[in-house]
Parts: sequence; structure tokens; C-alpha cells
Amino acid sequence: MPLSTSKSEKAKSFDLAYQSSGMYYGWVVRPEFERFFNNIDLTGKTALDLGAGEGRYSIHLARRGCAVTAVDFSASGLNKLQGIAEQERLPVTTVLCDLETYAFPENTFDVVVAATILDHLETGARHRAMAGMAAALKPGGLLYVNVFTTEDPGYAAAGAVDAEGVSDTSFGMAHYFAPGELKSCFTGLALLDYYEGVEEDTSHGKPHHHGWASLIAKKE
Ligand SMILES: C[S@@+](CC[C@H](N)C(=O)[O-])C[C@H]1O[C@@H](n2cnc3c(N)ncnc32)[C@H](O)[C@@H]1O
Repeated sequence: MPLSTSKSEKAKSFDLAYQSSGMYYGWVVRPEFERFFNNIDLTGKTALDLGAGEGRYSIHLARRGCAVTAVDFSASGLNKLQGIAEQERLPVTTVLCDLETYAFPENTFDVVVAATILDHLETGARHRAMAGMAAALKPGGLLYVNVFTTEDPGYAAAGAVDAEGVSDTSFGMAHYFAPGELKSCFTGLALLDYYEGVEEDTSHGKPHHHGWASLIAKKE
């Protein structure tokens, strides 16, 4: 299905960002993700990375032994990701697709990652994706989600990407999560870790801040 005009404008803007040399968002994954998953043997596991972009989470998981399926609507992000995976001979499959129409497989993945993507989806698509993510986990599978919250300066700036302290890629945002909201989204899963806070980000564009919420949960 072709992307709507506003969707294709957003995909083009991400394409442009990912055409930069190097990793636009850097290689660093969130500390709560690294802390938790570093203590788990991921050899031979399968992972789904939603809104994977240029793939810092996909590559991190693949280097740890996971076969990764990476989904995004940015062709240049996925091309960059595929190139890195091929160079390192890592098992990454890329899927160029709008998450609004992605057919979530059921009971398929040991790990599902959604790093700053649920907040890019409008309400209906977001709820569909959240249900799809839980369904896509195998029993015993682990979910990692992070999103931006209403504490993020981008929320008050209401779309003004040039405003003081706001991320240059906040154009992609559809929904800033209220405090506690992310925690209430996956009540069918066992909550293992939850974090909310505001932090500086110097990884891309001008220095800015983000209001973060992140969650790790398990499908029993
Ligand atoms: C803020 S970036 C995060 C990228 C990656 N998860 C990371 O943490 O480095 C958001 C990503 O979501 C993708 N995206 C946004 N809306 C999407 C949609 N409707 N379908 C597929 N991908 C989408 C963008 O192309 C972009 O790569």
C-alpha cells in the first residue's frame, strides 16, 4: 500500500537523516536495555525490531546472536542497516513497510523491540501495533519499549522543531506519552522494569532534552 502524503514526507525526512555518514542517532542503546539484555544469553534467539531505522538495536541484538527482523518505512535507514549486517555477516532481515499495515506474525519472536516508534504512530495504529507486539512474542518472550513523554520539550513546543531544547527529528512525533501511560499499555505482560526521566541528548542535531519512558516486560 503506498504511503499517504504526510507519511511519505516523514519517511523522506528520515531518509535524509539516515543518508548522513555514520549512525545518525549513534550506536549507543538505552542503558536500561543494555543492563537487562546483557545478562541474558541471546544465542539462537529471534528478535523483531520495529521502527528499526539505521539499526542500532538490530545490530546490537544480532551481534549478541539473535536473528533479527527489522521493520521501518525508511528505505535509506534499512539500506544502511543491511549494509552493516552484510559487512559483519549478521543475520538481519529488513522489511520496508508502514507499521500501520505490518502483518504481525503470532508467537514468533523471543524479543520484540520498539525504540521510539510507538510515539510516532497515530492512536489507531499505535493500539494495533501494541496488540501486535504482544501477540508476536513467544511465551517467555521479552518486550522492550521506549517512548518520549509529555516531559519532553518537544511536547510543549507542539511541532516547532527549531525551538530551544527540542530534537531535530521531533517532526516524526504523533503522541507524547503521559506520565505512567506506557506502564498501563501492556498489562497482559509481566512488568520487569520501568523507567521515566528527562535526559540531555547530544547524539544528533543541536543539544536537546528528551522525556523518556521505557518498559521491559515478559509474556508468561
Ligand atoms: C526516532 S527513529 C528511531 C529509530 C531506531 N528505533 C533507533 O532507536 O535508533 C523512528 C523510526 O521510526 C520509523 N517510522 C516512523 N513511523 C513509521 C511507520 N508508520 N512505519 C514504519 N516506520 C516508521 C522512522 O523511519 C524512524 O526510523
